[in-house]
Amino acid sequence: MLKLAIFGSGTGSNAQAIIDAVESGMLDVEIKCILSDVAEAPILERARKHNIPALYFNCAPLKSKLDGAAEQKVLQILEEHDVDFIALAGFMRIIKDNFLNTYAGRIVNIHPSLLPSFPGLNSGKQAFDYGVKVTGCTVHYVDAGIDTGAIINQKCISIESSDTLESMMEKLHAQEHIAYPEALQWIAEGQIHYKESQDAAGTVR
Ligand code: GRF
Repeated sequence: MLKLAIFGSGTGSNAQAIIDAVESGMLDVEIKCILSDVAEAPILERARKHNIPALYFNCAPLKSKLDGAAEQKVLQILEEHDVDFIALAGFMRIIKDNFLNTYAGRIVNIHPSLLPSFPGLNSGKQAFDYGVKVTGCTVHYVDAGIDTGAIINQKCISIESSDTLESMMEKLHAQEHIAYPEALQWIAEGQIHYKESQDAAGTVR
């Protein structure tokens, strides 16, 4: 069974979807702990409510990456909690090489666009402002690039002329909450394998 850690910096609705899927028996993983670089992040409160260890780590003075002493601390926490797989869910820091190598092929992320379109920050707004008629979410492996890792699962939504950015994001989040537990279950069942040297089809289903 996958021994999962979830990392997030904010609301934690995707973490909640993963917790709910585990509790309802739809997702066969063990959530070992939930970690955040933001002490007051609601994601930690969600963990506490479900009796999952909720762990804050301080990354100051680093602004946008997980590196140095903070990285060492997180690696230590993961070892102490016997974690072998990591799901990023709204984690707002870049993971660097040392960490990536330690958990090679064992870190996944969810991104609010249909990658490779609209990588990076504010992807929902980017897509909405661009005027695309279809967008969605992507679950992908994490590699050294920004949102470039092999794609595991995608769901799409239509953007109607009546949609606002807010209504579009609401539809998008609802699809994320389906896509992430589904992708993790595929990995848990061994239906998906990470290929070290990957091309566009870096995963096998
Ligand atoms: C999601 O939209 C996810 O795609 C992005 O960050 C957001 C996190 O939302 N990476 P939540 O904290 O899971 O509610």
